[in-house]
Amino acid sequence: MANQLCIVIDFGGQYNQLIARRVRECGVYCEIKSYTTPIEEIKSLNPMGIIFTGGPNSVYEESSPHISKEIFELGIPILGICYGCQVVAYTLGGEVSGCEKSEYGKIEISQIGGLLFEGVPEKSIVWMSHTDFVSKLPEGFKVTAKSDDCPAAAFENPDKKLYAVQFHPEVTHSEYGKNILRNFLYEVCNFSGDWKMDDFIDTTVAQLREQIGGKRVILGLSGGVDSSVAAGLLSRAVGKQLTCVFVDQGLMRKDEGNFVEQTFTRLFDMNFVRVNCKDKFITALKGVTDPEDKRKIIGTEFYNVFWDKIREQGTDGFFAQGTIYPDRIESGKGNKAGHGKTDVIKTHHNMVEMPADIQFAGTIEPLKDLFKDEVRAVGEKLGIPHELVWRQPFPGPGLGVRILGEITEDKIKVLQEADAVLRDEISKSGIESELKQFFAVLPNVRTVGVMGDHRTYDHLIAIRAVTTDDFMTADWAKIPYDILARVSNRICNEVEHVNRVVYDITSKPPGTVEWE
Ligand code: XMP
Repeated sequence: MANQLCIVIDFGGQYNQLIARRVRECGVYCEIKSYTTPIEEIKSLNPMGIIFTGGPNSVYEESSPHISKEIFELGIPILGICYGCQVVAYTLGGEVSGCEKSEYGKIEISQIGGLLFEGVPEKSIVWMSHTDFVSKLPEGFKVTAKSDDCPAAAFENPDKKLYAVQFHPEVTHSEYGKNILRNFLYEVCNFSGDWKMDDFIDTTVAQLREQIGGKRVILGLSGGVDSSVAAGLLSRAVGKQLTCVFVDQGLMRKDEGNFVEQTFTRLFDMNFVRVNCKDKFITALKGVTDPEDKRKIIGTEFYNVFWDKIREQGTDGFFAQGTIYPDRIESGKGNKAGHGKTDVIKTHHNMVEMPADIQFAGTIEPLKDLFKDEVRAVGEKLGIPHELVWRQPFPGPGLGVRILGEITEDKIKVLQEADAVLRDEISKSGIESELKQFFAVLPNVRTVGVMGDHRTYDHLIAIRAVTTDDFMTADWAKIPYDILARVSNRICNEVEHVNRVVYDITSKPPGTVEWE
């Protein structure tokens, strides 16, 4: 049976995916739709609640996103957030004006009742970010919260089940934000909370069995979180009908290829095909030093090796991919009407291009409706090891973008060993969960050192570690000196051909996370 549905109407704000994630964290399934989605389509989806997101515009601008008044006549509860709150007021005949002073950041509000604020103290901190405010409420509405500079920080028309908040309940800076969303979902919309990962696994496994029947399924497994969890789900559904193709180009971290192979051959029922093609890659990369050329060569070689193996395996069944919900939103395919005003942001690496000569019976994307944290929850329930489920991002070209200049087998070995020491020390230090990504880089620089009585002239290793929310910007991580000292000592002592270690203290921007 389909889950009860909440629809998030996207007006172009930066927190849209966050709103949807928070709704799902409350146990309610939700999907993001553009503000241009026809009302008939929204009606046909039979949502039990609708949330309008924020957005960067001003409701009075002609080109700003608007929505037909009809949506308010469907009898479906609506919660407008930030710009969405102004849309509620403006569309129903209220007034929106420019603030004398924009409100930005943590602001104290006082609430004066209403279903949304049940269990919320009279005064609390919320996250505001607006330059317009609702200066006159539409008929039938009353104010339920205000701040010093915003007389209508929240308002409602409970008879029509219409609610609006000028602040952002979805961000963690809003102390009681989650209570407010929960109140909307459970007290106003009456959701039962039927979105649970256990149910998701059972339902998806049943659907996959029905769809696949007796056919075969091929999945490209990279060892990343998404393809690993997709492999786990498909294995549970169809066992040996699943073949995973794992291309090991020799540019993974130390022992990673073996770990992936052992995990999936020992813990899961499936056919596992590993293609070891390190030599092919190293030959193709011989003498190449330009970063873009290196990336292109690695990409092209991977494409050729992978699809050749797929042709060899046969294409009579289904092709599976680890596409997740944000991949579809970001590529514009999750949302027929486009994502807010932006259509296609990027083509995502999880959605692979298929060569023209290859045709499968169909494509299967078992994780296509899940956010990353949900994918991880499913992975844990399927028994996929913690290291894989919580694996940090790893670039497609692997260590190829962490060895500057020409890539050789010797340099790969040096970098793998140094990186393994770093990983070991960080995992022992207890700070691993604070770092979003950490790794070693081989900058292809040799420096003079001294070992015993001898002069050395050997490699320098750089350590990169960052904290970030979304990888668009990042801070260099303030790893305690004693941990850095242990890492440096061990790398110089244990890794042959390294005599110096430096720490990268550059944030993004101006640096990027990777060095190439
Ligand atoms: P940058 O270096 O752009 O990295 O600041 C941001 C995040 O993206 C990862 N990254 C990649 N991921 N293919 C990928 O799948 C790539 O070519 C690639 N380049 C960078 C990087 O590891 C970081 O998490």
